[in-house]
Amino acid sequence: MPALATSDIIAVIGAGAMGAGIAQVAAQAGHPVRLYDNRDGAAQAGIDGVRRQLEKRVARGKVAQAEVDAIVSRMTPAATLAELADSRLVVEAIVENLEVKRGVFAELEALCGPDTLLASNTSSLSITSIAAGLERPERVAGLHFFNPAPVMKLVEVISGLATDAEVAETLYATAAAWGKVPVHASSTPGFIVNRVARPFYAEALRLMQEGAAAPATLDALLRQAGGFRMGPFELMDLIGHDVNYAVTRSVFDAYYGDTRFEPSLVQQALVEAGRLGRKSGQGFYDYREGAEPVEPDFAPAVEATLPPLVAEGQLGAIAPLVARAEAAGLEVVCRESISGEARLRLGGLTLALSDGRCAAERARDEGLEALVLFDLCLDYETTSAIALASSPGVDAEARTLAAALFQHLGLGVAWLTDTPGLAVLRTVAMLANEAADAVLQCVCSARDGDLAMQAGVNYPRGPLAWADALGLAFVHRTLTHLQQSYGEERYRPSFLLRRKALAEESFHV
Ligand code: NAI
Repeated sequence: MPALATSDIIAVIGAGAMGAGIAQVAAQAGHPVRLYDNRDGAAQAGIDGVRRQLEKRVARGKVAQAEVDAIVSRMTPAATLAELADSRLVVEAIVENLEVKRGVFAELEALCGPDTLLASNTSSLSITSIAAGLERPERVAGLHFFNPAPVMKLVEVISGLATDAEVAETLYATAAAWGKVPVHASSTPGFIVNRVARPFYAEALRLMQEGAAAPATLDALLRQAGGFRMGPFELMDLIGHDVNYAVTRSVFDAYYGDTRFEPSLVQQALVEAGRLGRKSGQGFYDYREGAEPVEPDFAPAVEATLPPLVAEGQLGAIAPLVARAEAAGLEVVCRESISGEARLRLGGLTLALSDGRCAAERARDEGLEALVLFDLCLDYETTSAIALASSPGVDAEARTLAAALFQHLGLGVAWLTDTPGLAVLRTVAMLANEAADAVLQCVCSARDGDLAMQAGVNYPRGPLAWADALGLAFVHRTLTHLQQSYGEERYRPSFLLRRKALAEESFHV
């Protein structure tokens, strides 16, 4: 389906943070835009706000004044809903309340022609519910922008039960023509991003609650080793714990209490205490004046004479780590092994990538005296930090040796309490698991699931592409081990991971 023509009028209802931003996006793309808000003066204030934002860009030499004048001249405040009647598309971005939204859509249906497309920017309400009761629910869809709308690339195009496929395709093409990255999703709780992202927060909260490591250490690991732009704790502090907790609660309730989405008591306590994050001055971190920044708890630099590093088996994902050791001047010996599994040996110490078992369990299973597990890294060639955990048989000397190895490669070393799946592997496995279930349940395609997480929340890699690279059998095994370790349904692997692993398929060909 072609995109709407730039001569088509776009109406936006609600001139708050999102509505004004969406109006700006449409005006920048060349459309005449009408902005309506039921608060007196709000529509004009929204347009003035857009001008101010754009003029800051003029001052920085990013855009010409004439261009800003042209964009703003295309935006007109509307005094009544009736003034939106001849629009080709209406995007609603008002208060997040089903009854109020339904009322507005019913009024729009009475005012607009039969071909006007009606879209909602809702982040949590069902498009099916919003459209229910209308005469023509097939022309209603979700058009879910991310905040700030002019900056964030992702737009989730949401189809409710009645949405016409051509309507969804037209909105998809239009969002693309506006310079956005559109994805299709069916109307299910959390759509794609607000569902698939839950484990990013939940696993970090859980690790902290179990005393595996402190927030600053976990943040550093997810950033430096995981490649995420922000750590989960600093991100929750930025979003606001009231907002983040409410989203988790609503997704948890909407999925009938599925423990995968279980809200955290740690976060609930922050909300109860009024420690909402940056906006209240305190969250996991202290933002008040004079507060000292908290440093990650990395092991102090140690000196040790390193024996040759023996790399056994099919190295797979950790091959770049071995190459990095070689490049750092270590003597590296590569050899086959009977099992073919990747192991590193440093004297009597064995090191291995976590597979979701804790070190104590894996050392017992594999008959090893001293085992150090290391965490997944987005890129072992460039990572600047890594998490480690040791089995009970690892003494102080062996810990020093393990830390010295990674420090020799230039990595900060964080020792976690012996925890299944460590920090990055566990987070990535759970993100991929959630994305896999969204694909299994036909919420989105694998391509769109990955695109959504990259364009909507800046993930360094789509969770499914990441799982492909690790091997779906490995991700499935990791989740099974987590499930066994905790005895919880929360970690049950998605059937789609199993089916694809059995068929030796990947998500992306
Ligand atoms: P906001 O509170 O900043 O703005 C809402 C605006 O709608 C206000 O100016 C209000 O006066 C106006 N309004 C309320 N009821 C109205 C009605 N019946 N008719 C006309 N105008 C009305 O809210 P925000 O943050 O812009 O959110 C708007 C929508 O976008 C909500 O559905 C929200 O869930 C969704 N959303 C919000 C995101 C965010 O990060 N803030 C991100 C993505 C979606």
